[in-house]
Amino acid sequence: MKKRKDIITVAIDSPAAAGGGTQAKLIAKHYKLQHLDTGRIYRLIGKLKLENPKKFNYSLIKKKINNLNMNSLQNKKLLSDKVAVSASIVAKNNKIRSIVHQFQQRCAYSPPLKYSGSVLDGRDIITVQVKDAMFKFFITASLKVRAKRRYKELKNLNKKNTLNIVLKSLKNRDKSDRKRKHGPLKKTR
Ligand code: C5P
Repeated sequence: MKKRKDIITVAIDSPAAAGGGTQAKLIAKHYKLQHLDTGRIYRLIGKLKLENPKKFNYSLIKKKINNLNMNSLQNKKLLSDKVAVSASIVAKNNKIRSIVHQFQQRCAYSPPLKYSGSVLDGRDIITVQVKDAMFKFFITASLKVRAKRRYKELKNLNKKNTLNIVLKSLKNRDKSDRKRKHGPLKKTR
C-alpha cells in the first residue's frame, strides 16, 4: 500500500456511546476527510458470526473484508445490541484484529484523492492503528450518560430495550474492551 503524504490524519478512541463517532463525523465533514467508524467492521464480523455459526472461519472473514465497501458499513442491521455484543466477542481475537488492521490502514493512509485525509474512530486507533496520527482525541462520558444516549438511539430504531438492559450491556462491553489482551481501550498520555 502506498501511503499518501499530503494528508491529515485524525485518530479518536472512546468507549461505546460516548460520542466519539459523532465527533468523527463532524470533523470529517468540516475538513473533507474520509471517516471510518471501525466499530462497524467488528459489528459486520459479529453479525457474520451470528448468521453463520457453523461456517464462521478466517477465510469467510477475509472474504467479507476483502469485498468490503463503505456502503455496507451503513447497514442499519449492524446497530442492534445483539450485534454489538457479538462484535466485542470477535474483537478479542488477534487474528481477526489483524485482518481488520489491513483494511483500516488503507482507509487511514490511502484515502481516495477526493478526501484531504482520514478520521478513524474506535478503541485502538491511537494506540495501535494510527499511532502517528496528526490529531488524537480520547472522548469519554459516564456510563449513565452513555447508557441514556444509546437507549435513545436504539429507541429511535424501534429496538425494544430497557435503560437498565442497555446500561448492563455497555458495562459488560466496557469491561471486555478494556481488559482484553489485544488492542484494549486505554487512554494514552
Ligand atoms: O464502536 P462500537 O460500539 O460500534 O464497536 C463495537 C465493538 O467493536 C466494541 O465493543 C469493540 O469490542 C469492538 N471494537 C474494537 N476496536 C475498534 C472498534 C470497535 O475492538 N477499533
